[in-house]
Amino acid sequence: MQLNRKDLLGLEFLSAQEIKLILDTADNFKEVLQRKIKKVPALRGVTIANVFYEPSTRTKMSFELAEKRLSADIINFAKATSSVKKGETLRDTLENIQAMKVDIVVMRHGSSGAHKFATEFLEASIVNAGDGQHAHPTQALLDMLTLREKWGTFTGKRVTIIGDIMHSRVAHSNIWGLTKMGAKVTLCGPPTMMPMDIDQLGEGGVKVEFDLTRAIENADAINILRIQLERQKTKLFPSSREYFEVFGISPEVLKRAPEGCIVMHPGPMNRGIEIAQEVADGPQAVILPQVENGVAVRMAVLFLLAGGKAEEEVVAS
Ligand code: CP
Repeated sequence: MQLNRKDLLGLEFLSAQEIKLILDTADNFKEVLQRKIKKVPALRGVTIANVFYEPSTRTKMSFELAEKRLSADIINFAKATSSVKKGETLRDTLENIQAMKVDIVVMRHGSSGAHKFATEFLEASIVNAGDGQHAHPTQALLDMLTLREKWGTFTGKRVTIIGDIMHSRVAHSNIWGLTKMGAKVTLCGPPTMMPMDIDQLGEGGVKVEFDLTRAIENADAINILRIQLERQKTKLFPSSREYFEVFGISPEVLKRAPEGCIVMHPGPMNRGIEIAQEVADGPQAVILPQVENGVAVRMAVLFLLAGGKAEEEVVAS
């Protein structure tokens, strides 16, 4: 089976079969990443531009490593050192990058919909590495790969996403991915950070629960979101201390969840605000395995968008 798509804009546009294909392909690439020589020639001759208009540690490094593991040629763009500082527009920037014969553009941008706009004039494939508050599809895919490794299935599993739902592209992509794969999603956070009608999002909708204990008491996994102070135009909660007291995940709060409940965080973490030190570094956390899985997931996405088949050729040679 192949992913017959040019772009990856968001998980809302993928079927459950396509999501499964990406996760299965990522599983194959995880095997490659265990080898002494962690490299395959799958994207030899393919040129990829990493275009980051917003800061990133995990996503940018993970994409770059995935590209190197696939033997692609790479060029990097960072807003701070680019001609955007001289007033160049997004369209002009991308068209100039394409003129250099780039095949795939991996982009992070602060505006929701920037990637959709780019598909209107770019022949190169566009991969969404985060657009504003809209979507972060590869983050949700790596979260799902991490959960599937623990559970084997999503059917009937319960995932609670906690925190700044309104500003979170991670939450939006997880809602689409998890519900399409058969999991049940509950959202919890301050009412000031919970968008109207969010319960309608995803395949079949999600549950909204403002009481943290009720939100986690049956959860098989909790995904704790970063409070995105940089995206808040007004103060949405009185203080960080109060946020932690009401919605923060401390060891005491985690005891209210079932034993074995998986603890996730997309990073970067605000330790002591949305998650306590002991929880972030505790035995239930899979935060670093999430990061590890990011490389395999991004290898799978790039390989499939470039026209690869999820067969044994992935791991051959
Ligand atoms: N999770 C995530 O997107 O992290 P970065 O902002 O560091 O890429």
